[in-house]
Amino acid sequence: MPTNRIRGHQYPTTSGLAQLISALPYIDTHAHIELEEFDADRDAVVARARHAGVEAVLCVAVSADSSRAAIALAERYPEIHAAVGIQPNCCAEAAQGDWERIVAMADHRRVVALGETGLDRYWDFTPLEVQRDYFDRHLRLARQPGLPVVIHCREAEADLMAMLREAAAREPLRGVVHAFSGDAATAAECVELGLHVSFAGMVTYRNKKFRRLRDVAGAIPADRLLIETDSPYLVPHPLRGKQKRNEPANVTLVAECLAELRGVSVEELSEQTTANARRLFFG
Ligand code: NI
Repeated sequence: MPTNRIRGHQYPTTSGLAQLISALPYIDTHAHIELEEFDADRDAVVARARHAGVEAVLCVAVSADSSRAAIALAERYPEIHAAVGIQPNCCAEAAQGDWERIVAMADHRRVVALGETGLDRYWDFTPLEVQRDYFDRHLRLARQPGLPVVIHCREAEADLMAMLREAAAREPLRGVVHAFSGDAATAAECVELGLHVSFAGMVTYRNKKFRRLRDVAGAIPADRLLIETDSPYLVPHPLRGKQKRNEPANVTLVAECLAELRGVSVEELSEQTTANARRLFFG
């Protein structure tokens, strides 16, 4: 809360109170708050998000164990919802029976999405063939309960799009490509295939190499745009380098940056992205 410094003491201001009352709605559509990075102060992290206007956080799992942990958080905090799945870099470590655990957890009432899944050629933790196999499993599993899919893609756009085209030919796709880092043509095709596109802290970075990404973000149709933190990773500007760990409250910084580059008010951007997230995950 903003404070006035009067004779060295700090008093809350009325504008601080007004800010609390009129906090805009946000949904952080991708955060790994089940990870141990948040074990020491998870209650405070959730409280700060609430204070910032974050009405929902999608806790996205990376393994069978983290899926179980995400569900436990979703049962404990009303604004947390779970996505269950095995992240491409974690597939090689999956134990026998882990996939069956994901399938069983997909029916849980607090689970609103599958993932994260997808393909990653940047890291070399899981052979691409194994990643493809798990991505395909997630895409097929999503069909029966009608869950949207949370998709990760790092330097594997061509492989990913080929699989998405195939899946879309079987049945309409519902989901999001998260922390999008691809080019304009890939983004346009994701939208064409029915997917949403989500942006994280990278879009706020001032380095030249992210200028192209900001152009891509500016061109996404308003009704397909989502925001996220990818906590604990990707701390947005201007906290980058100052805060070691990202957290859901910082999704407001992603929203402010996107509003600016799209030439709309923060109010409009927060309302639109929140409506999009509600429709996709809670519709
Ligand atoms: Ni993630």
